[in-house]
Amino acid sequence: MISRLPRPDDDSLAHCQKVCASIRQAIDEADGSISFAQFMHLALYAPGLGYYNVGTTKFGAAGDFVTAPELSPIFGRVVARQCAAVLEQLEKGQILELGAGSGRLAVEILRKLTDLKSPPERYLILEISADLKARQEELIGEELPDLLPRVEWLSKLPKKFAGVVIANEVADALPVERFERTDAAVFQMHVTADETGFDWSRKPAPEILAVAVEKIETDIGEALPQGYQSEISLGLPDWIGQIATCLDKGLVLLFDYGVSRREYYSREHNQGWLRCHFRHHAHNEPLIYPGIQDLTSWVDFTAVAESAVDHGLDVAGYVTQAQFLINGGLADELAGIADLSVAEQLEMSRQVKLLTLPGEMGENFKCIGLSRGDLTGVTAFNCADRAHVL
Ligand SMILES: C[S@@+](CC[C@H](N)C(=O)[O-])C[C@H]1O[C@@H](n2cnc3c(N)ncnc32)[C@H](O)[C@@H]1O
Repeated sequence: MISRLPRPDDDSLAHCQKVCASIRQAIDEADGSISFAQFMHLALYAPGLGYYNVGTTKFGAAGDFVTAPELSPIFGRVVARQCAAVLEQLEKGQILELGAGSGRLAVEILRKLTDLKSPPERYLILEISADLKARQEELIGEELPDLLPRVEWLSKLPKKFAGVVIANEVADALPVERFERTDAAVFQMHVTADETGFDWSRKPAPEILAVAVEKIETDIGEALPQGYQSEISLGLPDWIGQIATCLDKGLVLLFDYGVSRREYYSREHNQGWLRCHFRHHAHNEPLIYPGIQDLTSWVDFTAVAESAVDHGLDVAGYVTQAQFLINGGLADELAGIADLSVAEQLEMSRQVKLLTLPGEMGENFKCIGLSRGDLTGVTAFNCADRAHVL
């Protein structure tokens, strides 16, 4: 695979070597192997070393991948319309964005809400990367200096929150366990190291993982076949639970690429859902280039819904990204398109295609809405809600 990827520049290679050295040390200290979830955590989040904790460009043309808010301001504007509907029903409602990346989504939401004459009292951001937090502050300060005082960065979730919680492509960045099913047992995939790099090995799964896999089998109504490999995010239910616990009233909008549990663990998908992104090449070799490539895994949206319901939230809806945008006001956002120059119209229609076409981001990306309290006016789930498949 490496030969088909662009060659990293010398600085990136030097950084990658440092990350490899720290992961090797963790492997040595663990007597020869670490679980894939530990590997993913170190590769993405090791302080000062992990992919999200160093100052390289990740988002957009100069980075490794493009997210919906980076692709087009239309995404953030439609999200803002849904936020406005919720905020107008709450006294002092706020927005809380988790994992805000470059800060682009925050900028577009704040800009649109200001156009709608309803900027939130506070726009809270919980971002675990110190580097990205600094970039977010810089971008918001440059583009919306008057609104910067309303933005506050948190180091943990608030105890009590009323408003809208937004997370775009954060759940897919939570470390996942990789497992293999055999007729006799469940194995946890581990990572070992030698002079040439990292490699896979496997160990009997710890009880927490074996039980989680058995629960999947119960839910889908059959045992996974011999040799079946896939992923599971053991941290996801707790992450959703923490968000649910702090939400006193309002809506959570979680966007990500993902499917229902039945589809996630279908027989055809016997190699799992890990995806790596390096300089706009998507591939499935997670053990190469630690620290300089993004590692993600598709989301089991049934797990999201289950944990939300366990913590007292309602599932407001589950739709494709395309349907979210259409239900949420895309046509209104495009109303003035005829007044733009031909070049601008073409650019806008290119962006809408990428956001909505099934072969682009339209179908694989979903939005799940989780709510507490009676909310009216949220239109995003009015049509083609697929919550019944979860
Ligand atoms: C793939 S990026 C998406 C960034 C942005 N939301 C976007 O759409 O462009 C993942 C982001 O989630 C952050 N992140 C990962 N785990 C997190 C967590 N547990 N809490 C908050 N942020 C997290 C990363 O630092 C990064 O900003």
